[in-house]
Amino acid sequence: MRVAIIGTGYVGLTTGVCLGFLGHSVSCLDTDESKVKALRAGRIPIFEPNLEELLEEATPNLNFTGNYAEAIPGAEVVFIAVGTPPTPSGAPNLEYLSQAARCVGQHMNSEFTVVVNKSTVPIGSGNWVESLLRDAGEHRTDGSTPDFAVASNPEFLREGTALHDSLYPDRIVIGADEPRALEVLYTLYRPILDQTFTAPTYLPRPETAMAVPLLSTDLASAELIKYAANAFLALKISFINEIGLLAERVGANIAEVGRGIGLDSRIGPRFLSAGIGWGGSCFGKDTAALIATAGEYGLHLPIVEAARKVNTRQRDRVVEKLLQELKILKGRTIGLLGLAFKPNTDDLREAPAIEIAQKLIDRGVRVKAHDPIAQDRFDREHGAMGVHLCNSACEVAEGCDALVLVTEWNDYRDLEWELVAKKMRNPFVLDGRHALDREKLTRAGLRYMTIS
Ligand code: UGA
Repeated sequence: MRVAIIGTGYVGLTTGVCLGFLGHSVSCLDTDESKVKALRAGRIPIFEPNLEELLEEATPNLNFTGNYAEAIPGAEVVFIAVGTPPTPSGAPNLEYLSQAARCVGQHMNSEFTVVVNKSTVPIGSGNWVESLLRDAGEHRTDGSTPDFAVASNPEFLREGTALHDSLYPDRIVIGADEPRALEVLYTLYRPILDQTFTAPTYLPRPETAMAVPLLSTDLASAELIKYAANAFLALKISFINEIGLLAERVGANIAEVGRGIGLDSRIGPRFLSAGIGWGGSCFGKDTAALIATAGEYGLHLPIVEAARKVNTRQRDRVVEKLLQELKILKGRTIGLLGLAFKPNTDDLREAPAIEIAQKLIDRGVRVKAHDPIAQDRFDREHGAMGVHLCNSACEVAEGCDALVLVTEWNDYRDLEWELVAKKMRNPFVLDGRHALDREKLTRAGLRYMTIS
């Protein structure tokens, strides 16, 4: 099928590359010329495992452009996957979305086109995009009337495992009020739904993979599913962090408590890792947007609000733990292992490391840090904070009064802990992710503590 994708961020680019790999003919459009140029040359502006390899395989089916007139006419499906960054009120900024919708409306031809919202948009946006498309269609210079339907197809991929999540999803949700739109998207996704494509060697199909369920809903339900899924995941993490606080007081082990409750199939084991809490561009933005939407209807969402508060508290607990160990923070040197908001990405948006570093700097601490991938980006985007970046975890340890594991990169699990202990002024490690081996570190002469 002929597909156009507006926006080449995480969602747009991953979707485009996956659909191209499946054999569809895909035009990826971005208004940022430098991005288009880089992509045409096979250079990827984000760090995402295996994206480069899959892009290479999909290249014959991919076209990168900055031109709507090139991408839109003749496309059977147009995905809008532009950013919806938060505004100070918590409501998302819809400027890019409206701009994209207007441009698509001006360039669609008279063949039936399904315009799909893949950006995370407030409930009701489907109808709004439809009205923008119609308005734009009425002002076309050639006088033709576009034939289109709007659908919502929320994205559930995680950064760091974006391709795996796209090719082997738990479900595909399609919200559409018009049956023709559902039919077109069913055909588009059929290789994924039926799992009939040949899996790339570097992204093998999980042994448990089966046909993927397709959930067909109305527009508003699909839009709400996206927010409710992210809010639920965020509150699952905050729940285990809240129980972690109590576990610490009563002398229980929160990792074991998490495992114990997660084995109940009604609860499930994932997203129950306690620690410094969630970061990234999605959970914070989407829980704020959900609360803002509820506010428009005069509603409070106390559970979602509490999940956000608990998450903020986890960052403060890092400072509390360090105070407990070091008594005085002023003049100390503290090292952070990991800067990205999670492993396998260089994304620093709402990364806990930034908040923690700032809290420590405000208290007069000299902060050192290392990240295997996100370091250069940190230097570019947050260089002014004054964090001293090091080339290795061992270099961070040199002269430190404490090390904090912020991002659980695999590289940090097997450090030469004896060497780390020797280099530190005070051999103390605060494991913010329950990722390190307590016994190993203790044997190496380090005092080991976790958050909760
Ligand atoms: C999240 C959702 O998981 C995706 O389904 C969704 O598509 C995406 O947001 C989005 O809306 O775009 P992502 O933010 O990429 O994906 O990363 P996650 O793996 O969900 O991790 C989010 C944060 O939670 C990270 O900081 C991670 O360290 C933290 N986390 C995760 C925990 O603290 N504990 C856990 O048990 C799991």
